[in-house]
Amino acid sequence: MKTYRREFKKDFLWGSATSAYQVEGAAFSYGKAASQQDILSENSLFCTTETASDHYHHMEEDVKLMKELGLKTYRFSMSWPRIFPAGRGEPNPEGVKFYHQLIDALCEAGIVPIVTMYHYDLPWKLVEEYGGWLNRKIVDDFANYAAFLVKEYGDKVKHWITINEQNIIYRMWTRKNYIPEELQKDEKLRYQMNHHYTMAHAAACRAVRAIRPDVMLSGVPAVEPAYPRTSSPADCAAAAAANMMRNYFFIDPYMKGSYPVQAMNYLEDQGLMFRMEPGDEALMKEGCCDFLAVNYYHSVCAKACEEDAVRADTALNLYGIKGSATSFETAPGLYTLCKNPLLETTDWDWPIDAEGFSYALTDLYERYGKPMMIAENGLGARDILTEDGRVHDDYRIAYLRKHIDALHDAVDKGVDLFAYCVWSFMDLMSTSNGYEKRYGLVYVNREDKDLKDLARIKKDSYYWYQHVIATNGRDL
Ligand code: BG6
Repeated sequence: MKTYRREFKKDFLWGSATSAYQVEGAAFSYGKAASQQDILSENSLFCTTETASDHYHHMEEDVKLMKELGLKTYRFSMSWPRIFPAGRGEPNPEGVKFYHQLIDALCEAGIVPIVTMYHYDLPWKLVEEYGGWLNRKIVDDFANYAAFLVKEYGDKVKHWITINEQNIIYRMWTRKNYIPEELQKDEKLRYQMNHHYTMAHAAACRAVRAIRPDVMLSGVPAVEPAYPRTSSPADCAAAAAANMMRNYFFIDPYMKGSYPVQAMNYLEDQGLMFRMEPGDEALMKEGCCDFLAVNYYHSVCAKACEEDAVRADTALNLYGIKGSATSFETAPGLYTLCKNPLLETTDWDWPIDAEGFSYALTDLYERYGKPMMIAENGLGARDILTEDGRVHDDYRIAYLRKHIDALHDAVDKGVDLFAYCVWSFMDLMSTSNGYEKRYGLVYVNREDKDLKDLARIKKDSYYWYQHVIATNGRDL
């Protein structure tokens, strides 16, 4: 660990995060209608959204645990179909009330609520009605939903995040969105869908600011800095291209209100250019964010690739067997991703790279110059509840320690950082691996196919993070 020359801010928001469909449960009750995640998870190899961590019924207990942990902020998402079962029209009073109760409980506990408006759970009704995100109609519906949230909760919530991980939504488009099978190979449509997200974000910012110019807005991309596989100029250019196509292409619209030219030229040359409508460029400028929230899990490694290479996605390692991810994302003529031989990985082949965290934060701060928050950072692992009734997750403590150390390094280098959220507060259903892969500081006693008693059990990492918060990040 290094010697720090600068402290975290006095009012630094030490936090933790979750998302609605991954924790709430009560997926089809209290007036909530299905989301696309409820439907997609019906065919999951792991578990469904029906109960998840049953946060809906354990909300008060969960907030008590947050308070005891000493959290200064809790980032959670609101479920669009819990608020508007049909995507628009009449709100569901029970859903609206649930989030008031959660926000009130947090405020009473002295915890600042930070709200994500959208974390993959689109009302299924809108998929049935017009294809969801594939249709431009979504832009107005999302803006109306965003405006409603800020009207309803804007007195109590200052920081709002529009869309969670638009770049991952693009990258894993058939997992994060319902895409009919016959369309799944349509690469141009995939970019078109991404543009609808960009415009929905911008339209939401405009609608929200018209109601409450005092709220603070951001989107939240997952940032994955790309390193060159070797120091050859071709590999260095490949890494720069990977940063452009995988990070800046998604973040520039939020921070600069435009897509980067290089990326647009590439899409045009590849026959992948999406349709922009008159007025889009002006509206994108209205989507510029007040701060930049990012999620960070790992870096990637890139090498040069021929123009006639075949476009491909990285194959997911779904079973947590180290080394089983063998095919990698390829953008013809730009880059192909590859394993970084210098980094350890998790069982799911995610590289562990704390230095990349500091590197990414300093790079983004230099590029955009806005205050930053880390909306997610954490380790997915198979946790074991031992006979002493504890979870000894020293591997998670080691991961978080290194990453908070890197965060401190970024602060030392001058990054204006105001919040950090561990993913996740409690165990939740991982987006691809259910309860096989856990992230929580608090263990939830259930398995994918056995609900057990859903008891909350504080892991060793909970106690460790409690001390980190108490010392404002000085003692790791
Ligand atoms: C982020 C998402 O991509 O990564 C979370 O915002 C997700 O929803 C987290 O849980 C970890 O990914 P996974 O697939 O391991 O759950």
